[in-house]
Amino acid sequence: MAPTAVQNGGSAGQELSKAIDEIGVQLTLSKDVLDKILERFHERMFHGLANDNQNMLMIPTFVTGVPDGSEKGTYLALDLGGTNLRVCEVILDGKGSFTMKQQKYKVSDELKRGKAKTLFTFIAQSVKTFLESESKTGSASSGEELLLGFTFSFPCEQTAIDQGTLIKWTKGFDADDAIGQEVVGLLQSCLNELGVKVRVNSLVNDTVGTLLAHGYQSKGPALLGGIFGTGTNGAYVELRKNITKLQVDDPLEPAPTYMIVNAEWGGFDDERAILPVTPFDNQVDREAIRPRHHAFEKMISGMYLGEISRMIILSLVDRLLLFKGFSSVKMNTQYAFDTAYMSAIMDDKKDASDNSSPTYKVLAETMEIKPENISAEDIKAVRRVCDIVGKRAARLSAVAVAAVIKHHQEEVSPDNKEEVYNLGVDGSVVEYLPNFLDWVREALREMVGTETEKKTKFGFAKDGSGIGAALCALQASKQEKDHHHPHLHKN
Ligand code: BG6
Ligand code: GLC
Repeated sequence: MAPTAVQNGGSAGQELSKAIDEIGVQLTLSKDVLDKILERFHERMFHGLANDNQNMLMIPTFVTGVPDGSEKGTYLALDLGGTNLRVCEVILDGKGSFTMKQQKYKVSDELKRGKAKTLFTFIAQSVKTFLESESKTGSASSGEELLLGFTFSFPCEQTAIDQGTLIKWTKGFDADDAIGQEVVGLLQSCLNELGVKVRVNSLVNDTVGTLLAHGYQSKGPALLGGIFGTGTNGAYVELRKNITKLQVDDPLEPAPTYMIVNAEWGGFDDERAILPVTPFDNQVDREAIRPRHHAFEKMISGMYLGEISRMIILSLVDRLLLFKGFSSVKMNTQYAFDTAYMSAIMDDKKDASDNSSPTYKVLAETMEIKPENISAEDIKAVRRVCDIVGKRAARLSAVAVAAVIKHHQEEVSPDNKEEVYNLGVDGSVVEYLPNFLDWVREALREMVGTETEKKTKFGFAKDGSGIGAALCALQASKQEKDHHHPHLHKN
């Protein structure tokens, strides 16, 4: 029989609780702090729209139209950068609905950190496998040229809707020799080598895909596509004239009014000007693949939230306040305390002394902390740690959302007072972390006021970037037919 969690009340319990109160203070973001971060965030948006190579990159995407649900056709989509690699065939019915066939593939750490050619050959091979298994029924058998939208969720300097050079890897990827390479060409040559008759006609970030997909599904344009998953980022609708760093090579072409911008907001405050970074964040950053990169993402996204919690837990162990001062090999392993465990713990409503509780199971069974060292107070403490880390992530996420709404109100659509702010979101954090969206809303209310917060509609665009990439492939072929195919012109 599994032992019951031992009681550890009295002064040890009080000391532990006091220590967490103190850590809570370090990770709590008051309205005043949020307002200051918001102001800086908005200022950096303008800065990135005017200048190249900023920490928040503000990448013009060359997507100049947003769908309204009437789009029709069959397209392929490839999605690299989230939890899984996905290949999809999307049939858009023109009525805001779609059917999708998809296959998911796991990308191993070896592939993520190996050679670019090996990674892209693997991706091309996945397309081949998908087409072979779908060819009995799908459009793959029709013999027509298949167009593919490539969702590649990493910072790329885009030079056209179908061209982009990788600036840097983020999240767990590190295939170094891909940096500086044009990724559509790289994928196309690997597809050609394998004899796969598919043309990659668009490059799309997952946030852009989410934005397009949400507009399509909600049959009205969306303002923001936000990803809160392994990484975090947002794409939003910007006035073309505000993107002052961008010139188009054919001045005779009519300039579009709008263009979607991929903010790459994960890199916000890499200059360390405003975010209240704690020693726990510094430790996570120092040991990450790319220290001093993507500071904002490291405080928000699924790749790092479990790791921040692990750092806090270990600090309490080291102070002999938690688990009687004993850790485990597992708990001492980088990234072993997955953010998914935080979700299970934050959702745990069972009594702290009940050793069938999800928290107890994560600690004793998954993290291999010795049962005799886990007290009911420890269970409560770990729950509080996860809540504190999750709530801070949500409040910071709200800053980015508030900045885009404020920007829209002040810059993009200042005369429309009746507007509803239609936001599409996706990713494992927003999907699974308990209370995440409620906390985002609460912080949003503090920053933009109740009236605007009430007019803000979050829609969950599950697996949205698959549909989004298909829509982007469609948009690209429309732009090609209309001869509206702008390329970046550098001064
Ligand atoms: C998926 C999208 O639904 O969500 C991906 O298809 C996206 O494009 C991903 O990157 C983000 O969530 P996560 O949690 O898988 O990183
Ligand atoms: C990282 C990537 C970005 C992507 C985000 C969400 O921040 O740099 O391109 O959109 O993760 O997947």
